[in-house]
Amino acid sequence: MLKLNKVIIIGTIASLVVAISAFTQPEIPPAKEKPTNLKVLPKNISDEELTKVMRGFNAALGVKCGHCHAAKPNGEKGMDFASDTNPNKDVARAMLKMTNKINKKYFNEKHEGIIQNITCETCHNGKAIPKTVALK
Ligand code: HEC
Ligand code: HEC
Repeated sequence: MLKLNKVIIIGTIASLVVAISAFTQPEIPPAKEKPTNLKVLPKNISDEELTKVMRGFNAALGVKCGHCHAAKPNGEKGMDFASDTNPNKDVARAMLKMTNKINKKYFNEKHEGIIQNITCETCHNGKAIPKTVALK
């Protein structure tokens, strides 16, 4: 009788564990959020390509993501990448347009494959602000 009780109790606990775990399945991670505020880069850019461009900015300017992106409001952890409140983001957009224009106008058409195109790195060389010469 005692043994039988034990079996019933263990059996009950086991089925409870099964029932509980059915409700606590590891959550499916949310799909990566699509960019919502691209004004210069192609809107259909892949996650992979966007990450590559952004890491390229970090390397070319010797900065971290927060140099151009604003922190999340209310002291929440992380960045609000879609936000435009960090003024460096719009500067970077203008720089992106300028760089594209220089390449299109002076390089791609005649020299494609011969002369290396201009990139952020060409001027910035790992610095947030390239060395500039002030004429007095
Ligand atoms: C030099 C400035 C700069 C740096 C550094 C930078 N970003 Fe960006 N980021 C931009 C700009 C500019 C855009 C918007 C491009 C556009 O309008 O087409 C952008 C857009 C994004 C977006 C898309 C947001 C949306 O919803 O539209 C993500 C995500 C992002 N950046 C992530 C990162 C990450 C992660 C890093 C660090 C690894 C990083 N960025 C570093 C300038 C920067
Ligand atoms: C032709 C040279 C050149 C290229 C190419 C270039 N930049 Fe710049 N960038 C500058 C100069 C010069 C300044 C400083 C402007 C000033 O002091 O007013 C600057 C300033 C900036 C700033 C503002 C930094 C600050 O702290 O004020 C950002 C952000 C920036 N560049 C991002 C970029 C990104 C991203 C790229 C590539 C898409 C890029 N730049 C390509 C020359 C360049």
